[in-house]
Amino acid sequence: MAKLPIDNKPVISGSSEAFGKGFSTRRAIRDDLPTLLKIESEITPFPWSARQFVDSIDSHEAYVLLKGKRVIAYLFYQQILDQAELLNIGVRLSFQGEGLGSQLLGFCLERIRASAAQLHLEVRASNFTAIGLYLSSGFKQVGERRAYYRSETGREDALLMTYNFPDPAN
Ligand SMILES: CC(C)(COP(=O)(O)OP(=O)(O)OC[C@H]1O[C@@H](n2cnc3c(N)ncnc32)[C@H](O)[C@@H]1OP(=O)(O)O)[C@@H](O)C(=O)NCCC(=O)NCCS
Repeated sequence: MAKLPIDNKPVISGSSEAFGKGFSTRRAIRDDLPTLLKIESEITPFPWSARQFVDSIDSHEAYVLLKGKRVIAYLFYQQILDQAELLNIGVRLSFQGEGLGSQLLGFCLERIRASAAQLHLEVRASNFTAIGLYLSSGFKQVGERRAYYRSETGREDALLMTYNFPDPAN
């Protein structure tokens, strides 16, 4: 996947309407790191590290959602051939429950719809909010990995979920 220079990542045109007035999307850049770390630490007890964010900004598809000039959510995914993987999604605490997570996931699905057959993800079995988001967006559970994640009490399972795009041949 081609890497764009970090100071030359384009604003995505024509893709922000779904979020409503005052919202916009653009590619995440390294300058977003402090904000991403702050949001991540507010919304999950198991935050991505600075290294994970930087690597993902540099190597994957990385987007932020802004209200005005303020970053309020983010989305990371990667695609290899027709298989895509959702790597991280987060919405600032004070903006949760307003449909933004669902719209951000919809944004991802629309971006890859023409080229992907499946979008995969892994989620902690205890993360009911995220599981609710994925189920309501059309993902199906396809498996689990026992004791996959470290947790506050030891280990916890990962649920494997997949969104199947309709086969264009049908
Ligand atoms: C998961 C997350 C991105 C959802 O974003 P959001 O903007 O709050 O979600 P939405 O308002 O779009 O809600 C979408 C769906 O999520 C589920 N959901 C949202 N809030 C919920 C809650 N408090 N409890 C249970 N399910 C909830 C519902 O299924 C909802 O669909 P519905 O409105 O049709 O019922 C957000 O909660 C978040 O950032 N969580 C912390 C980070 C995280 O866990 N990321 C996922 C890593 S795998």
